[in-house]
Amino acid sequence: MIGNYDRGRLEAVLRRGGDTRRLEVRDEVTSTQDAAFTMADYGAPDGSLVVAERQTRARGRLGRSWASAAGLGIEFSMVLRPPADPAPVPPLLVAATAVAAAEALERAAGLVPAIRWPNDLVVGDRKVAGILIETRDFEPRAPLFVLGVGINAGQAAPDFPEEIRRETTSVALEKGTPPDRTALLAEVILATDRWRDALAAGAHGAVEEAFRARVAYLGRRVTLREGDEAVEGTLESASPVTGLFLRLAGGGWRAVRPEHARDLRPA
Ligand code: BTN
Repeated sequence: MIGNYDRGRLEAVLRRGGDTRRLEVRDEVTSTQDAAFTMADYGAPDGSLVVAERQTRARGRLGRSWASAAGLGIEFSMVLRPPADPAPVPPLLVAATAVAAAEALERAAGLVPAIRWPNDLVVGDRKVAGILIETRDFEPRAPLFVLGVGINAGQAAPDFPEEIRRETTSVALEKGTPPDRTALLAEVILATDRWRDALAAGAHGAVEEAFRARVAYLGRRVTLREGDEAVEGTLESASPVTGLFLRLAGGGWRAVRPEHARDLRPA
């Protein structure tokens, strides 16, 4: 469905079980990340959401921008207030959300996306969704994060900026018809809630396993940017926590820590 979200339907799904989270559906914001941080400053509880039809300065990982498409994409940010114990692990929160978004896309839109380490969902080699986690003035006794999710839902090819068109896809492009954005958004949120609950209960291993089961390019030749260097090899493993392991063409192995790895692409 192209156009506005059905707010009533969204509320009905999210309020099941007496949920008290705040929900803002906005026509236009700079970034839902900023709007969600503001909401958190005013005390919004865990799971509160800002959903926007359009962002004028949406951002992605490594200071990149996110191409927001008015009324076509699914773009939202969620306030996370995970328990302090067990201590939250941000890469696992991203991994849990990636798994949740992949499950939701499968259930509500019939796609089977893979997770391109660490935070993209791809169909084939084309990006269909991206996830971002941010924190400000982190306080270990009261952890606060804002988790952002962008999904290409109703976009046709010309709706994407030309420079990313070849490497990007959407639900509409894959399935031939735009999804019901309200239903897909609700599904992503509920799946994210389930995986967040699992993490809060200490099920770190379950999240890592679900991530591994969907990880893209395993056994394929890939190029990994490590700092300014491009490393080429066969992807043997990719973990949200410990990083990547490549078998090099000339023999030998290369382990790349998550904080040193940038982009992973098929070679
Ligand atoms: C990435 O691809 O690196 C992550 C993209 C995250 C985009 C989403 S859209 C909703 C939220 N608001 C933002 O400004 N960014 C995230």
